[in-house]
Amino acid sequence: MRSQYCGQVTEELIGQEVTICGWVHRRRDHGGVIFLDMRDREGIAQVVFDPDTEESFAAADRVRSEYVLQIKGLVRGRPEGTINENMTTGKIEILGKELVVLNSAETPPFPLDEFVDVGEDTRLKYRFMDLRRPEMLNKLMFRSKVTNYIRNYMDGNGFMDVETPILTRATPEGARDYLVPSRTQPGNFFALPQSPQLFKQLLMVSGVDRYYQIAKCFRDEDLRADRQPEFTQVDVEASYMSEEEIMANMEGMVGSMFKDLLDVDLGEFPKMPYSEAMSKYGSDKPDLRISLEIVDVADLMESIEFKVFAGPAKDPKGRVAALKVDGGAELSRKQIDEYTKFVGIYGAKGLAWIKVNEIEKGVEGLQSPIVKFLGEEVAMQIMDRLGVKNGDIVFFGADKEKVVNEALGALRCKVGEDLNMFTTEWAPLWVVDFPMFEELDDGGLTAIHHPFTAPSCSPAELRDAPEKALSRAYDMVLNGTELGGGSIRIHDGEMQSIVFDILGIDAEEQQEKFGFLLDALKFGCPPHGGLAFGLDRLVMLMTGASSIREVIAFPKTQSATDVLTKAPGEVDKKQLRELSIKLNLPEPQKEESN
Ligand code: AMO
Ligand code: AMP
Repeated sequence: MRSQYCGQVTEELIGQEVTICGWVHRRRDHGGVIFLDMRDREGIAQVVFDPDTEESFAAADRVRSEYVLQIKGLVRGRPEGTINENMTTGKIEILGKELVVLNSAETPPFPLDEFVDVGEDTRLKYRFMDLRRPEMLNKLMFRSKVTNYIRNYMDGNGFMDVETPILTRATPEGARDYLVPSRTQPGNFFALPQSPQLFKQLLMVSGVDRYYQIAKCFRDEDLRADRQPEFTQVDVEASYMSEEEIMANMEGMVGSMFKDLLDVDLGEFPKMPYSEAMSKYGSDKPDLRISLEIVDVADLMESIEFKVFAGPAKDPKGRVAALKVDGGAELSRKQIDEYTKFVGIYGAKGLAWIKVNEIEKGVEGLQSPIVKFLGEEVAMQIMDRLGVKNGDIVFFGADKEKVVNEALGALRCKVGEDLNMFTTEWAPLWVVDFPMFEELDDGGLTAIHHPFTAPSCSPAELRDAPEKALSRAYDMVLNGTELGGGSIRIHDGEMQSIVFDILGIDAEEQQEKFGFLLDALKFGCPPHGGLAFGLDRLVMLMTGASSIREVIAFPKTQSATDVLTKAPGEVDKKQLRELSIKLNLPEPQKEESN
């Protein structure tokens, strides 16, 4: 039906006749001449109709935004002064000869030729229209380039694409499962995979040697800008590769992709131990575009009177730390109050601060609600440790270590962003040497990665002091976002059982839930390891999108619903009967009168 995409009619075609198909992006009537901007996937071309071609002029006069047209016309150069250098088709226009209306369109629910903030729910309800907007379609096209690049890279490095089941058993990755009831085995459920983790390990036992898959994963967890209940992983596993080899390979892929698709040189990724990330940045995914660092000051606070600081300073699970912000003394009281509220989200009970006005005057030159509680000596020791200069502000956090890390870690990024303290556009790194486990509130242990991650110590050492054990895991972090994570796996049945024991999974449950894995480990499992990237996050960062919802064709809302198809939805009684399911819903809340 067409000879060219609208977006591909360029000056090389001047003098030729073309046929384009697409939507009316904009229609303008310029005193006797009608301009139609015609849009398709590849871009926009300007078509001019003049009254000489009577019939098509009249047709062009009747069309409205988003009508679907086929237009035949002659490509000509735009008159001097009307050339648009910013458009691929900006040097030409098409003199319209014939116009066929292929379909009409109602007024769109929101304009497509400019961005009007109609709210995300409306955009998602009419997602098919939202995706028509060039900026959205461009993101989908870019995503397709990324997956294509990854496939070529993986293929070129000997990785084999293997599909793994969607109807399966639970794969523990730390989130709730999505369950699917079985009709043939009443009372039993499939779980949708949180990741293909166990299958890819089994493929190593099978001899696939190098596997990859662009795999859908499902996790019923609280949603945020970088989390969806259904998302895509670039999932990778390899036999006989060390962690260094896996990291080098994956860094090679991300590095060359940034270079080829964005012309960005990410350089070599530094490696940072988890302990350093937590102590300096309060996060296991530090945003190294911002150079601000958190500094421990607990040792200076242990014997002061001020209990807010002395308490956590003496508590082995507490932390007292400071964040110096260069030039931050300019912050107003109102801004400081806002930051105090902000750290409250992370559980901080306050946000003490000291403004450095004239350091040469000693404590007299400091402005702060807490200097009087610290005493002159301690206050000056802190200033000394932080190396302050006039015009700086120092923020303090004192609480359980977790609260201080989360609060000051988030504050560091927020202040860095507010005061525009970015030192570079891209800051990738590997975080390594994670602990194997972290403590739960009830005192039990949970795996920081997943229970199949190999420790870097012996089975005996692991059993003796699990809380001290480090793992052979690694995360790839870019600009404060965890892009991917992986590890060398346990390939020895005894070690795997010890980890399950430590996690409180007894022998019976191990057999019931993971018997197939323990079996597989008995039959000559090669040493292996791998990693999975969050494809949505990767594309989000590469396109500069603010949320992964912007780079997923049909995402779910914050409350995990699809407002387009209205899923999840109710089902027939008959369907439930077939599945032997009876609903036991909570009573609807009665509205209170008065
Ligand atoms: P992990 O749980 O770290 O590891 O997941 C790997 C990567 O997947 C992305 N990701 C998500 N993206 C969007 N929405 C979500 N809800 C979501 N959850 C995770 C992140 C993350 O880094 N099987 C292991 C990998 C391995 O060990 O090889 C795993 O799934 O970018
Ligand atoms: P208060 O004595 O509670 O008025 O607190 C004095 C100062 O310490 C205020 O600036 C509070 O914001 C701050 N503050 C209180 N609790 C904490 C805490 N846990 N960590 C950091 N600062 C705090």
